Amino acid sequence: MDVELRSLLRTEGETRAFGRHLGTLLRSGDWVALVGDLGSGKTTLVSGALESLAPGSRGRSPTYVLVEVYPGSTPVVHADLYRLRSPEELRGLALDDLAEPGGVVLVEWADRAGEDLPPDRLDLELRYLEGPGRELRIRPRGARWREAARDGLFDRDRWQHALHPRD
Ligand SMILES: Nc1ncnc2c1ncn2[C@@H]1O[C@H](COP(=O)(O)OP(=O)(O)OP(=O)(O)O)[C@@H](O)[C@H]1O
Ligand SMILES: [Mg+2]
Repeated sequence: MDVELRSLLRTEGETRAFGRHLGTLLRSGDWVALVGDLGSGKTTLVSGALESLAPGSRGRSPTYVLVEVYPGSTPVVHADLYRLRSPEELRGLALDDLAEPGGVVLVEWADRAGEDLPPDRLDLELRYLEGPGRELRIRPRGARWREAARDGLFDRDRWQHALHPRD
């Protein structure tokens, strides 16, 4: 059965803190698929993850280049498919090749990829709320992420420590 967890991200700082925490969970071969309306916070969450995975790098939205690669012991591939024109173009990006060896891949506008992403992945959806803040919907796909969800790794008390004073 598909599992879905929901988390309230009250501020930009909370989105970033969730991202920082997620960055500490990510391992070689992991894929994270982010969806959500324009400006819902996808890049903010990814830059939090980059703070953990590629400290010192300046995460930026790869909106104009589709893919940004951050080399390191665990390379990070950050793709933004907003401008993707076709599934062929996605194949041309060869995200899995870019992630070799042992990288992690985070994809914004993952819904543009159709079914072309690996089935074992963490799906994250950011939603606007009536008021400020966002709702995060977490859908673990595959055993690894379902186990992480079952172990409570996405619970607020697990990521709250990643808030910085300026958040
Ligand atoms: N939880 C939150 N509460 C309020 N504002 C937030 C929250 N998370 C992020 N934001 C703000 O939302 C705005 C857009 O964020 P961001 O660029 O990360 O969105 P995006 O989903 O990547 O947009 P795009 O669709 O253009 O790629 C930023 O101003 C950011 O500060
Ligand atoms: Mg973005």
